[in-house]
Amino acid sequence: MASDAPVAASRITPAELSARKGGEPIVCLTAYTYPIARLLDPHVDLQLVGDSVAMVLHGHPTTLGATMDMMIAHGQAVMRGSSRACVVVDMPVGSYEDTVENAVACAQRIVRETGCHAVKLEGGVAIAAQIAAIVVAGIPVMGHIGLLPQSVEKEGGYKIKGRSEANAELLYTDAKAVEAAGAFSVVIEGTVEPVAAEITRRIAIPTIGIGASAQCDGQILVIDDAIGLTVDRVPKFVKEYALLRDTVSKAAEDYARDVRSRAFPGPEHLFSLSKDKA
Ligand code: KIV
Repeated sequence: MASDAPVAASRITPAELSARKGGEPIVCLTAYTYPIARLLDPHVDLQLVGDSVAMVLHGHPTTLGATMDMMIAHGQAVMRGSSRACVVVDMPVGSYEDTVENAVACAQRIVRETGCHAVKLEGGVAIAAQIAAIVVAGIPVMGHIGLLPQSVEKEGGYKIKGRSEANAELLYTDAKAVEAAGAFSVVIEGTVEPVAAEITRRIAIPTIGIGASAQCDGQILVIDDAIGLTVDRVPKFVKEYALLRDTVSKAAEDYARDVRSRAFPGPEHLFSLSKDKA
């Protein structure tokens, strides 16, 4: 796919990330738009076009609002803005759970229409057959276990995982199933620290933590959380590296004052009859 972003020497591939198990931590952030993808690209190993886009940019209450068309449009924008990082696109709810055939067809459509390098699916044992079939079709897969946002309605809320021994065992089984199915890495979300660390020790593919453990092989955050653009509740597992909501709010306040007082536009923003630059 053509891109007007600066061309890097080479892309980081899923295979290269997989080989980093136990080595330098893998840096991941979500990205949904062209300008953010351009800004993140020199600094991160992986950009995830997460289905969190439905909440973060489109105002849906959960990720259940994400659609194939939405994921593809944002995947295309992120691909245009990146030239170095590995780009992974989330498969939205309803695109992979029912049959293996539908999962493969939807993964193929995402890769064909965006040019992304891998897809991500939520679940362990329950969707291992889908992961295996997508991998056999030649598409790298990132797994996602622990707290699964697409299951929020079934679970009656966002529940931290691994608090009981029985639940921890289920997570170990899920992690092994995702690994055996051929995923190149797996996100562990919202899982108690010792269990996330133990999963990381037990499997040979990199684990990417979010609300999980510093022992994971990499970390991911939702970009709007990381730059302080989240206007509702900021989750406990988030570290804000900037406070852009204050910057944006102040800019809007200053602009409104300038327009109302006719301080903007100033002479430097206006065109005269003589030729000048736009
Ligand atoms: O959709 C998303 O942003 C994600 C990350 C939280 C891992 O799946």
